[in-house]
Amino acid sequence: MKNQLEQLKDNFLTAVKDVTDPEKLEALRVEYLGRKGKLAGVMKQLPDLAADMRKEAGILANEVKLGIEEAFVQAQKSVKDLEGASRREADWLDVTAPGEAPVLGSLHLVTEAMEDFADIFGQLGFVRVRHPEVDWDWYAFESLNLPKTHPARDEWETFFIADGDEVQTGELGKVVLTPHTSNGQVREMERGRMPIRMLNMNRNYRRQSDVSHSPMFHQFEGLVVDENVTVAQLKGTVDYFVKQYFGEDRKTRLRPYHFRFTEPSFELDITCNQCEGKGVLPSGVSCRLCKQGWLELGGAGMVHPNVLKAGGLDPEKYTGFAFGWGVERTMMMKAGLNIADIRLLYRNDLRFLKQF
Ligand code: DAH
Repeated sequence: MKNQLEQLKDNFLTAVKDVTDPEKLEALRVEYLGRKGKLAGVMKQLPDLAADMRKEAGILANEVKLGIEEAFVQAQKSVKDLEGASRREADWLDVTAPGEAPVLGSLHLVTEAMEDFADIFGQLGFVRVRHPEVDWDWYAFESLNLPKTHPARDEWETFFIADGDEVQTGELGKVVLTPHTSNGQVREMERGRMPIRMLNMNRNYRRQSDVSHSPMFHQFEGLVVDENVTVAQLKGTVDYFVKQYFGEDRKTRLRPYHFRFTEPSFELDITCNQCEGKGVLPSGVSCRLCKQGWLELGGAGMVHPNVLKAGGLDPEKYTGFAFGWGVERTMMMKAGLNIADIRLLYRNDLRFLKQF
């Protein structure tokens, strides 16, 4: 039994030397000193010994127990020290190391373009507004001289707001996702603050999705209503914008067109930057970017009397002009930004967006 006891102590001392984590140390304590532990196991033999042997063994057993306990306490201390050291190491901070620069965000290129447009038109006294992007049929179509069954409506491939199969209707007709920013025209007139110099910029929606159409896109709509507004002022305004945004050397032209809400109506063209408006490249090859030197920017015209009436204004007293262009299209035309698929703008892929 004496040997057993000494062996036990030696085993413990060897085992405890390698222990570095507190859980293993506790397991070792239980293994040796626990109620059903190894020491207790040896002690169970005590009653079987002769009386004199028993006393001696009892003393030795006690010594072994104290020895083991002492070694345990010491091991406990060094495990704690070790833990502290590794924590200090993990927490250590090199204040002289160069900092990590936070990732800086930036505005989306479409947002930037809208701010540019607002700045330029702002110089002419246009006030930026945002009329609803969910609106009634009345503002999106009917008040713009587009009666309910008019076939021209097909051009605005419209999304309607439905509950199940049932298209929602309100006091002013069906509820639509505005397919153009022209819905802001009559709404602005209804505010009754004359004269009007409005720039309505907003999201629009149409049932179209391909490389040059995104179902969600943006337009900016200019509207001027006052007494004696003329086409010359429209021309002057778009000229100013084009020279500010695209560059002094760009020219504009108004090409006759047809819209229901303007009379007369125009498409606004600007000279092509690739062939400098010539339609032919210096090499003699005809320009593939434009049509005979001109690029199409968007629609414009003199506000139709019926639209003024719908807005509660007297067409005998007031006249006005309006224009509505795509934000993405205008932005992409500047500097010939060649994006293979317009929908890339809205995929939120940072690898794409960070290039700009
Ligand atoms: N709303 C038209 C469209 O989306 C564009 C437009 C044409 C707006 C002529 C106007 C305008 O204000 O006068 O196709």
